[in-house]
Amino acid sequence: MDEEVDITRERCGQEPPPSPVLRSVPDTVIIFDTTLRDGEQAAGTSLTAKEKLTIARQLDTLGVDVIEAGFPISSPGDFEAVQLIAREVRRPVICALAHCRPAAIDRAWEALREAPHPRIHVFLSASDVQLAHMLKKSRQEALELAREMVARAKTYTDDVEFSPMDATRAEPEFLNQLLAAVIDAGAVTVNIADTVGYSTVNEFSSLIHGITKNVANIDSACISVHCHDDLGLAVANSLEAVRMGARQVECTINGIGERAGNAALEEIVMALRTRADTFSVATNIDTTQLYKTSRSVSDLTGFLVQSNKAIVGANAFRHQSGIHQDGMVKESSTYEIMDPRSVGIPASSLVLGKLSGKHAFRERLAELGFSLSDEALSHSFQAFKELADKKREIRDRDLISLVSEELRQETQVYRLDHVDVSCGDHSLHSAAVRLIGPEGQILADAALGTGPVDAVYQVINRIIGIPNTLVEFSINANTEGFDAIGEVLIRIESEGGLYTGRGASTDIVVASAKAYMNALNRLILSRQEHVDQSGAGNYNRGMHEAS
Ligand code: KIV
Ligand code: ZN
Repeated sequence: MDEEVDITRERCGQEPPPSPVLRSVPDTVIIFDTTLRDGEQAAGTSLTAKEKLTIARQLDTLGVDVIEAGFPISSPGDFEAVQLIAREVRRPVICALAHCRPAAIDRAWEALREAPHPRIHVFLSASDVQLAHMLKKSRQEALELAREMVARAKTYTDDVEFSPMDATRAEPEFLNQLLAAVIDAGAVTVNIADTVGYSTVNEFSSLIHGITKNVANIDSACISVHCHDDLGLAVANSLEAVRMGARQVECTINGIGERAGNAALEEIVMALRTRADTFSVATNIDTTQLYKTSRSVSDLTGFLVQSNKAIVGANAFRHQSGIHQDGMVKESSTYEIMDPRSVGIPASSLVLGKLSGKHAFRERLAELGFSLSDEALSHSFQAFKELADKKREIRDRDLISLVSEELRQETQVYRLDHVDVSCGDHSLHSAAVRLIGPEGQILADAALGTGPVDAVYQVINRIIGIPNTLVEFSINANTEGFDAIGEVLIRIESEGGLYTGRGASTDIVVASAKAYMNALNRLILSRQEHVDQSGAGNYNRGMHEAS
């Protein structure tokens, strides 16, 4: 086995040594981020490989120890994303999921092979209900299969993780035998999955405690936990598991994931930090990157963050009641248990305006965690000046909308150049739109619609000609005030795929047009990616075979 590297030591070095096995140190919890795998499974998410790479880079900056980049056998797109991230993101462990089929494990390795720190994550159902109805295998057969597949993964890399799926509904005695068998076969992390979010906190506590006491070789592995939020207990269960000795937590940014989602990374990390008196463990996360990471994941996946969401919601640090405000003015610790700056929310909401120069603009963006190329900065500054002509005060939220819009422009195949509508309660609603095509050609047309947004979408459909259905459309003002920027989120469906688009503008028709163009561009890019690939079926098939 290669050298075992403790995560704190590795963090201090420059380029890490090849293929270390990531092991926890007793007072450090490994943060395993599965935003790009379990989070991406959430209905309505379809990220391109490039977008996944953007998120992976931000997760690297955030300091996560492990990035689960995808499930390579599930689709060509997943394979490509894992391969790209394995090539480009060098510090963290890059992990790929595989179910218990030789082809899945081989494919995971193929995608991972260029990663300096590759991990194969093998999973298999462990509960009787799943064994009987999905796998149609006895417990003994499942145990043998798991052992065999972990051993196969181990021929590729020392860093092998095993997850007994639906562990919280498995028979505890069998679960312990299964864990002992896979550790014996070489798994160095065993991940206790509350797949359906069923466990209560005291049950989960006993389960982890039982594993530490009854699995004879458990000291040769790191105990990990993976909790879903169906009963709203994912974070509480994960924290309790840490108290009971788990040293890896699997989680996602903003808690996105299957159904009600996964445990939220930002909540776990800040609970461990704020209540260090209870948990006495640290993480390697740079918490000042949490807010920016949350925004970036929300922007790219289209999953809005609810305003009352802990840590990263718009109201998380806002005090409304008079008594609280009074306390805050006198001494912030009266009502504030965390400093908003510790999660990357800027202390002041500095206001920029018409007369602000490029220097102040750049400085403020840096404080908000954005570092743009010179070209993107120039475009954003021009957009800022145009906005300042319409809006007297430009706040941080405006800057974030503006820069996010700019970053979206970087991945456009078709670009919105001009939109003009006529509307009102007695008029015919019409729109004229001009787009710039992939080869720089000008494409213009006009159409009527039931309203201005419908008219704009009709024109865009006539020009681009990709049949699709609009399944979701929402508009939000990014700040208070009538002059706020409108942020539009849409989802379209085409040939079974869902594509999200976002757009921002002080004109909501323009924001709607931008959001539609963003969704269509993502659809086109995703199809281009898939045309170049060959692979083993789609995600559902992968999951189904897993059963
Ligand atoms: O929820 C689950 O059981 C999973 C496994 C693949 C770890 O996501
Ligand atoms: Zn899961």
